[in-house]
Amino acid sequence: MTTHETPEHSLSYILNHLGESRESYRFATAPPIWQTSNFAMPDVATMRTVVRDELANSFYTRGNNPTVEILRKKLAALECCDDALVFGSGAAAMAIGVLSQVQAGDHIIAVQRPYSWTKTLLSQLLPRYQIQTSFVDGTRVENFQAAIQTNTKLIVLETPNSLTFELQDLQAVAALARQHQITTIVDNSFCSPLYQKPHRLGIDLVMHSGTKYLSGHSDVLAGVLCGSKEMIDAIFRGPYMTFGPLLSPHDAWLMLRGLRTMPIRMEQIHRSTQKVVAFLKTHRAIKKIHYALDPASPQAALAAKQMGAFAGLISIEVDAKNFAQMEAFCDALELFLIAASWGGYESLQMPIVGFMEETNYRPGIGLPFNLVRLSIGLEDPELLIADLAQALGRI
Ligand SMILES: Cc1ncc(COP(=O)(O)O)c(C=O)c1O
Repeated sequence: MTTHETPEHSLSYILNHLGESRESYRFATAPPIWQTSNFAMPDVATMRTVVRDELANSFYTRGNNPTVEILRKKLAALECCDDALVFGSGAAAMAIGVLSQVQAGDHIIAVQRPYSWTKTLLSQLLPRYQIQTSFVDGTRVENFQAAIQTNTKLIVLETPNSLTFELQDLQAVAALARQHQITTIVDNSFCSPLYQKPHRLGIDLVMHSGTKYLSGHSDVLAGVLCGSKEMIDAIFRGPYMTFGPLLSPHDAWLMLRGLRTMPIRMEQIHRSTQKVVAFLKTHRAIKKIHYALDPASPQAALAAKQMGAFAGLISIEVDAKNFAQMEAFCDALELFLIAASWGGYESLQMPIVGFMEETNYRPGIGLPFNLVRLSIGLEDPELLIADLAQALGRI
């Protein structure tokens, strides 16, 4: 830490020291995994004090646990929020974040193509409870404005957006929402708190799939929700404790370990991705690249304004003529493992063709069959480029 930085604002301090009271566990450098479901109280008076604020104390691990608490403090500080809750998956964090803000009869506005299970929540599950969602093209703030109804209570954002990485102007949408007393929530998984801080731009709740860059090792599923003390307390006392979507102490510990190296992982992935993008841009078998930091994109100025960078996700549209050619390309990739998720140490590919049947395919409806999302990992970029070159050579 340099002298002009306060501890709360120093990234290295947050990741290495914030929230860790080493004197209370014999100065162990790595915190213990408090693998316990509950905590015994010395007397009734103490119990009474503790249960008044279960989030700030340790009473029952469904609510709080010392290992989990260290993680919560770091995540809240990273997102410049008062507090954070952690979950067993990103999907749980989004579901609870949304549910906590709406009731029967309310209306939600969401970005057009959110992560698939966010879409299922909004378009299939919530209508069963008389909560409707309008999906809008989030690249223009006017589209949010036009969709506002008298009963709109929540705006759900995801920037960059899943698979094709369009951006929403966080500051503009937050200002619009505030004018209409609408709450905002954003999925910030793609940028991580290192490259985008939505709360500072006025967004109320910041959600993450902690499974991705925050953990970074493809060995834990986790979710995060950050916000003001008031909002987090209310979510904790309501749906969080009711549904019980906790992150286990062991998974919290794994995530803490992943967080320590997040800046160097992200930096390397960001650099490698730029090299891979430069290679793909010149290749004759690439029809289109979706990359949030593309300087040629109409959203380049917005990207520069609200995102420090963007780590390792690219989608490419390959010049494949049919499903068989597309599958041959994907199968030929050796280092890009065919898998869900992203943000780990290893490079991955998610071919959209794997979700489709050729007999039902209608060009122009939904995503094209020749789109594949690549997640760049920690391998040498030269190895990744050679792998892409040999697979593209088959087209
Ligand atoms: C953008 C985005 N948000 C949320 C999720 C859900 O996170 P999890 O898989 O941790 O439930 C994912 C998962 O891939 C995702 O890509």
